[in-house]
Amino acid sequence: MSGGNAGKLYLGIETSCDDTSCTIFSSGRGILSYRTASQLDHARYGGVVPEIASRTHMRTLLPVWESVMEEAGVSLGALAGIGVTHGPGLTGSLLVGLSFAKSLAWAGGVPLAGVHHIEGHILANAIEGPLTTPAVVLVVSGGHTQLFNVARVGRYELLGQTRDDAAGEAFDKIGKILGLPYPGGPAVEVAARGGDPGAFDLPRGLKGSGECDFSFSGLKTAVRLLTQSIGALSPAAVADIAASAQEAIVDALARKSVLALERTGAERLYLAGGVAANRRLREVMRERLRRLGATVGWPPPRYCTDNAAMIACAARHHLEAGRRDGLDLNTFPRGVLASWA
Ligand code: KG4
Ligand code: ZN
Repeated sequence: MSGGNAGKLYLGIETSCDDTSCTIFSSGRGILSYRTASQLDHARYGGVVPEIASRTHMRTLLPVWESVMEEAGVSLGALAGIGVTHGPGLTGSLLVGLSFAKSLAWAGGVPLAGVHHIEGHILANAIEGPLTTPAVVLVVSGGHTQLFNVARVGRYELLGQTRDDAAGEAFDKIGKILGLPYPGGPAVEVAARGGDPGAFDLPRGLKGSGECDFSFSGLKTAVRLLTQSIGALSPAAVADIAASAQEAIVDALARKSVLALERTGAERLYLAGGVAANRRLREVMRERLRRLGATVGWPPPRYCTDNAAMIACAARHHLEAGRRDGLDLNTFPRGVLASWA
């Protein structure tokens, strides 16, 4: 299994938040097996409860790992490397994945590579084909909204980021205000389909600032005040507010992405992170970039949200470049992605 067209085999493990995800990735044939167990308990609390998340990883990780190994027909000894997210994220959740990965690396004598979660999201764009560089990458997730200049894999320059809420967090909070199910992002997108994006003129934070930074807290407050002024919300009002709020977020993301492309001279933009699954975002980006003569790409939907495939793909790049970690590798709760190549 490890030779010929199969290429080298990498196990990926991702447990930084509430998804337990494992994959077997082949450098020759792509993803051979992939499984993500999402923790549904958190919906009841309207957000991720860290202790529940880590305890659930403890229960779920072993069976998820066993199932991907079995489906790919791979033994531990056949692996060329193990990639695991070691930060940023919830410490308890990260420790479960990292301890498990280290045990496997030790038991099988397999090289280990710790992956920064954000680099994983960026390299989700390299799972099914090469990443074209230089590029600007917009990482938009529940915890991050950042624009990077990516000269090549391993070289990352932060161009701008949110000063308050992340774009996904804004979607989630607006979903909650509108009484939509958790997580709010996909729910707001669905609700917006029946609404008018021009119904309400909502704020675009830092619109004319000339920097590649974002701000979404004003939008959230504006939506709260608007709903309070309306009172009981009809389904049509929910749809109009959802569509207008989505338009404000997408417009802010597109404006600053265009600015980043103009600054760097790159002709390629990639979207990454959970919010990259949003169809309106893709549509607006494509439209605005066409005017610049630039193009936009994004990962398949299952690799936009947290997943192990992006981690295995990143680990492949680290290990092929000769960068590996020891069994003393630790987790970190926060920290900007740094270059390693
Ligand atoms: O990358 P991700 O799975 O986890 C983090 O690392 O944060 O992103 C999750 C975020 C959530 O805020 C979720 O509401 C948002 O991505 N999201 C969306 C969509 N699908 C997921 N936001 C807008 N539209 C979507 N279709
Ligand atoms: Zn993520």
